[in-house]
Amino acid sequence: MGKKIQDRKLDHLKISLEEDVQFKEKTTGLEGISFKGVDLSYKTLPELDKREIKLEIEFLGKKFKAPLMVEAITGGVKEAIKINKDIAKACEELGVGMGLGSQRPMIEDPKLAETYEVRDVAPNIFLAGNIGVTEVGKHSAKEIEKAIEAVGADALAIHLNAAQAAMQPEKETDFKGRLKEVEKLVKEFKKPVYVKEVGHGIGFETAKELAKTGIKAIDVGGAGGTSWTALDSKRGDKSIGETFWDFGIPTAESVIQCRKAFDGKIIASGGIRTGLDCAKAIALGADICGLALPVLKAQEKGGSKAVKELLEKIIEELRIAMFLTGAKNLKELKGKAIVKN
Ligand SMILES: Cc1cc2nc3c(=O)[nH]c(=O)nc-3n(C[C@H](O)[C@H](O)[C@H](O)COP(=O)(O)O)c2cc1C
Repeated sequence: MGKKIQDRKLDHLKISLEEDVQFKEKTTGLEGISFKGVDLSYKTLPELDKREIKLEIEFLGKKFKAPLMVEAITGGVKEAIKINKDIAKACEELGVGMGLGSQRPMIEDPKLAETYEVRDVAPNIFLAGNIGVTEVGKHSAKEIEKAIEAVGADALAIHLNAAQAAMQPEKETDFKGRLKEVEKLVKEFKKPVYVKEVGHGIGFETAKELAKTGIKAIDVGGAGGTSWTALDSKRGDKSIGETFWDFGIPTAESVIQCRKAFDGKIIASGGIRTGLDCAKAIALGADICGLALPVLKAQEKGGSKAVKELLEKIIEELRIAMFLTGAKNLKELKGKAIVKN
């Protein structure tokens, strides 16, 4: 069993680095270059000194220097050790958050904990542990908590991945009763729990149901970036994968719908590629933004230094976008989005 999951994790790294696994036609909605999408309201005379713009934010009890996190990518295989440490080091230097990949492999084989270990290089960052929703009922809150504590995580992200699972050759598609399992876990868990999609979005109805479980945040994981129906169908039925390649709720729409349904924190992710994307998502109602695939690619190319450069660029772009809307802090950025239908 353990070996099979590890093979899957390696396939994910290899396929996402070597093949085209991003949405083809569907976009996040954040680009705003056509008549549809999201633009920022340009304050032509901002009456601001760009250097004074404040990006700091508190998120689930941790201080961030900028509203950004690297989303869950990997763990459980030896290749993950360097990837996770390189990413974590860059995040620590910039004061932004990070998510670890699914901890299912280490729950099944605790020796694998070292493949997730980043606290030696990143003692201060917000760090999220990770587990799939279909695993939640199979393991007790205590077991999952132990895995979170072993890596020093501040919170648990539960990933919802029905679209991905439907493509996987492993066919782990029993999603019945999961809402109750999430609710039960949240009650028993000491650390904050939040829920994330992996790239196909969370809509109003699901967000409303999740809101009742007591979760602290929703990471929308919207459509427009990495497509998991594409990625995982490359390990299974490629033809079905083509049909569902662009399936899901675009990130911009998902942020809007989740904000309407849920009072807690919102992470905008799925195709966030620039600081301008991030600014638009925050203007729509998100609190922070996250990205995965570009970070993995940067890490492969140039290690921690390249990851840091990528994140620094995104942070600078966000600052510029705020300058151009006349927002001197993240609170003032809210509501500066123009949604074009
Ligand atoms: C190679 C790879 C592995 C991933 N593994 C996980 C995972 O274990 N758990 C999870 O919640 N999300 C996982 N994700 C999904 C990301 O956290 C993120 O939600 C998704 O890739 C969309 O963001 P992006 O468009 O910026 O890549 C993974 C992404 C990549 C590229």
